[in-house]
Amino acid sequence: MKKDLLKLQDWTKEEIIEILNLGDQLKYEQKHGIEHKYLEGQTLAMIFNKASTRTRISFEVGMKQLGGSALFLSSSDLQIGRGEPIEDTARVLSRYVDGVMIRTYDQKEVEDLAANANIPIINGLTDDFHPCQVLADLMTIREFKSKLEGLKVAYIGDSNNMTNSIMVGCLKVGMDVSVASPKGYMPKDEITGLAQELANESGCKLLITEDIQEAAQDADVLMTDVWASMGQEEEAEERKTIFASYQINDKVMGYAKEDVIVMHCLPAHREEEITGKVFEKYADIIFEEAENRLHVQKAILTTLMKK
Ligand code: CP
Ligand code: NVA
Repeated sequence: MKKDLLKLQDWTKEEIIEILNLGDQLKYEQKHGIEHKYLEGQTLAMIFNKASTRTRISFEVGMKQLGGSALFLSSSDLQIGRGEPIEDTARVLSRYVDGVMIRTYDQKEVEDLAANANIPIINGLTDDFHPCQVLADLMTIREFKSKLEGLKVAYIGDSNNMTNSIMVGCLKVGMDVSVASPKGYMPKDEITGLAQELANESGCKLLITEDIQEAAQDADVLMTDVWASMGQEEEAEERKTIFASYQINDKVMGYAKEDVIVMHCLPAHREEEITGKVFEKYADIIFEEAENRLHVQKAILTTLMKK
């Protein structure tokens, strides 16, 4: 049966760890010039309904390094943009290509695409989830901290697609998770309920609070993301006031552990969700995190598409 990556709650801890292990292996192979053309002759369609730098380039380059090729398809140029049902698009693409990566607004569109395609579908970000980014984040945390279990990750800022995937992904692999967001911008009940279930299962701690200090206290990893995500451009100005104190700065750094690492999925808005000073201090980690998108996605592609 074909397998998709639609959201991390669909995957087991073991499946997540296997992807991270393969990501490490592929990173090693690439750095040491070891051939790894596991998807020779295969094609990935990449549908974009939102902007992207990292996702587009890392998937395209990743497919090439695996011996295949990638097609960039803008939703507005496809017939989807003129109302062709996603169900029909899924059936057509299944006859031309070997896998699809899609970035769009509605998670349901991705789920419908997967339900109607007989090739693997990968979620390259929706309003609700960003699973590829969080797999890259886990790979990066393991690289810098040599483990995942028992660490505490604190996310400060808007509870968005990143927050949802961080909560699910980190709790699944045995990390404690704290989220600090202003009132009205906290994770939705449905995802909080799911995260609490995962925390109960794994014996990990989950904290969702307005209190930045409480969330950041003794954190091993501090994470943040933009205050206004793609699709929320009109709220951007208003959000600058609401989120003003939800920033990773020297004060917040003081609450975390001495050897804390700071991560950001990028793009970053300096002096908004993170100060330029903190960003630059942790730039090596943040850009390694961006690089790991390539390696972990090659692992995802290989796992889902290898014949
Ligand atoms: N982090 C991330 O997904 O970046 P892009 O929006 O540039 O793809
Ligand atoms: N939350 C951000 C992530 C960008 C990679 C957005 O959806 O715009």
